[in-house]
Amino acid sequence: MQTSQGRGVWGSRMGFVLAAAGSAIGLGNIWRFPYATGQNGGAAFVLLYILFVILIGAPVMIAELAIGRNTQLNPVGAFRKLAPGSLWTVVGMLGVATGVGILSYYSVIAGWTVGYFVKTISGEFSTIIAKDISQQIFENFVGNPYSAVGYLFVFIIFTAYVVVGGVSRGIERWTKILMPILFILLILLTIRSVTLNNAAEGLVFYLKPDFTKITAGTVGNALGQALFSLSLGMGAMITYGSYISKRDNLTISAGYVCLFDTLIAIIAGLMIFPALSFVGLKPEESGPGLVFVLLPSIFAEMPGGFIFGAGFFLLLSVAALTSTISLMEVTVSYMVDEWKWKRVNAVIVMSILAFLLGIPSALSTGASGWFTDLPLLHMGFLDLANALLGNYSLTIGAFLISIFVAYKWGLKSVFKEIELNQNIFYFNKFWAFMVRFICPVAIFIIFVYIVITGEYF
Ligand code: PFF
Repeated sequence: MQTSQGRGVWGSRMGFVLAAAGSAIGLGNIWRFPYATGQNGGAAFVLLYILFVILIGAPVMIAELAIGRNTQLNPVGAFRKLAPGSLWTVVGMLGVATGVGILSYYSVIAGWTVGYFVKTISGEFSTIIAKDISQQIFENFVGNPYSAVGYLFVFIIFTAYVVVGGVSRGIERWTKILMPILFILLILLTIRSVTLNNAAEGLVFYLKPDFTKITAGTVGNALGQALFSLSLGMGAMITYGSYISKRDNLTISAGYVCLFDTLIAIIAGLMIFPALSFVGLKPEESGPGLVFVLLPSIFAEMPGGFIFGAGFFLLLSVAALTSTISLMEVTVSYMVDEWKWKRVNAVIVMSILAFLLGIPSALSTGASGWFTDLPLLHMGFLDLANALLGNYSLTIGAFLISIFVAYKWGLKSVFKEIELNQNIFYFNKFWAFMVRFICPVAIFIIFVYIVITGEYF
């Protein structure tokens, strides 16, 4: 379907909800959430994360969708239209730049999932039990420059293929088929995991809060995780919102997306933590390799583990793809709207850029000593990109977006946009209060606190 300006529009409300949930649900839920929970103390972190989804994530999501649908433009064009001749367009530019950056390193991890799918179906994990062997396989795999860069390339090609198809033909059609499959597979794996021996120990860590574990870093990471997971703070939801029909109720759509996304993260935790205690690994020692090291040793122990393993890595690749699609769409829509480029040319240029930018990340897990242990910082390039773009930049973006809707564009304009066609703005007073006071103030305090304590890294 096309609007009068020749831009795409989602075929139906369900189409939008699935596509936006597809953007939100990804490696953030299944790869990043479990290890962030492990590193940040378990259940107390989970509670903070849920709190931030409700108090900050949901209100910012409504704000982004309203900006997008009102202007029917990419993030830069949207800010320019609503605040002409002002510096607010810089917020849109920050979003577009963050999108390219996240796409570059996110595709590296996404490439690992494809590599692990291939490894599983080629039978490499059918006999492994010991976790140290699994660790070795992981290190060899991510430390090999050819496979790391090769799979990055493959993943960017997949993404480009779908994004070229455009909004309803490409993105919507694919996510409609893929998202439900993902959900079913995850539930099956979780049932398997919670019935493993020793599952209780992992579940206690995950579900019984110990508030003494909360530090500035925990709070900052929980906020960063909530924003990353919901694809907020960089205009992805402005872009997806720009394709929503004027008939749809934005608050209901935003509610569904937040609910599905949080549910998937919580379920992913239920799948990971019992498996951790089953294998005898400490959650605190988990890191970006967690799902890749842990799960193959679980699959090898399970009857039908081959199927579960292949299914899982396929699932994770699919979840990552529906997210990289949205990351690429932000910049592509920018080039198409602002520079009047053909969609296909924008996709080609973006893909090359994301690939080149992704190479340092791909080489930072062992292949190149320099990128793996950056001078002075003593961290890998990928970890640095994940912290700077996936935490800091989104946090700054969400802060500015809430200030923009509350104090520049104005609450009345948002109300008008949401209440179009007699739609009801559910929880409107709660939303207005959050976006005026809680979002900016809370984000500001958390941000300053983590910068001062340096606890993000
Ligand atoms: N929300 C995605 C995930 O959880 O994997 C990652 C992401 C996608 C972040 C799109 C930001 C974004 F704009």
